[in-house]
Amino acid sequence: MSTTSSLDTACEQALSLLKQGNAVALPTETVYGLAVDARNPEALAHLFELKGRPAEHPLIVHLASAEQLEHWADAVPEAAGKLAEAFWPGPLTLILPKKADVPDAVTGGKTTIALRVPQHPMAQELLQAFGSGLAIPSANKFGRLSPTKAKHVRADFTEEEVPLILDGGQCEVGLESTIVDLTGEKPEILRPGAITAAQVEAVLGQPVKVAAVVNKSAKESKAPGTLPHHYAPEAPLKVFNKGALEAKVQAMSAHVRNAVISFNRSPRIWPSVFYWKRAPQDAEAYAQGLYNWLREADQTKPGQIWVELPPDGPDWLAIHDRLKRASS
Ligand code: TXA
Ligand code: MG
Repeated sequence: MSTTSSLDTACEQALSLLKQGNAVALPTETVYGLAVDARNPEALAHLFELKGRPAEHPLIVHLASAEQLEHWADAVPEAAGKLAEAFWPGPLTLILPKKADVPDAVTGGKTTIALRVPQHPMAQELLQAFGSGLAIPSANKFGRLSPTKAKHVRADFTEEEVPLILDGGQCEVGLESTIVDLTGEKPEILRPGAITAAQVEAVLGQPVKVAAVVNKSAKESKAPGTLPHHYAPEAPLKVFNKGALEAKVQAMSAHVRNAVISFNRSPRIWPSVFYWKRAPQDAEAYAQGLYNWLREADQTKPGQIWVELPPDGPDWLAIHDRLKRASS
């Protein structure tokens, strides 16, 4: 079948680029990533340069299956085995003690390593063919929004910078993976994602801590890439509760072009430059769409982006987390 053979051709092209030390963009179920050979220090240096990412921000090594864990992690505690069994392949990243031979560039000099087995068929196919670990950060310039469509990757990187983007359509989850640190006394969620604390607790049979979003420098933060003002649109973003947002919208003059993401329908007919997104009430659909709406909103060059405060509850935690970072 032609689709299969073209997929194979793209995969082969990706493989040869990776083996030459180049970066390849690819879809995962969470967000698009930019992959390089995690054992190749020059390729890793190239990746940091492409993203404009500070060296102390460690990367997630992606594997085809949990069987490869022992090549990267020095110890695989029982909890890691349980979580891998329950959630891999899927949107979960585990922090474990690293093996001594893992390049320093991957872990930012840390003694721990982040590991994930992604589910997207294109990521799986490439990882299986590659046979080793790929370091895959989100495919955006440092500090920008993660891409959830192939065209978002192209908006951040030229053809010269990233010659190949494997197009797997829109990412299903839309927010980055849940990161669980298993190197401390108690398991701790460093970055909330689609897999909730309750799901992790149910599998481990013990409570987990959830790290708060607070103002810390890269050195102080346990997950250095999870700093506030990460995952940010270009326009300043502000979150308002329903009443406050309605009042802001009522008071807005026709000359001020602020973009709005609300659970309500737009109360007026706005000029075409104005952006109004009526967001779904469903947390999964909201998570899938959020980065895309923020990019669309940015394109209308608004003064600010106003977002209606989403509901509380465990399913909305990752969304609150990203909105808080984007607005800080
Ligand atoms: O869903 C995802 O995880 C996506 C897709 C592409 O797989 N990847 C992703 O990678 O979000 P990146 O590089 O954008 O974010 C990696 C996060 C950062 O917050 C970093 O601080 C954290 O993982 N991290 C990596 N190694 C760590 C370590 N040893 N200890 C604590 N945090 C770590
Ligand atoms: Mg990122």
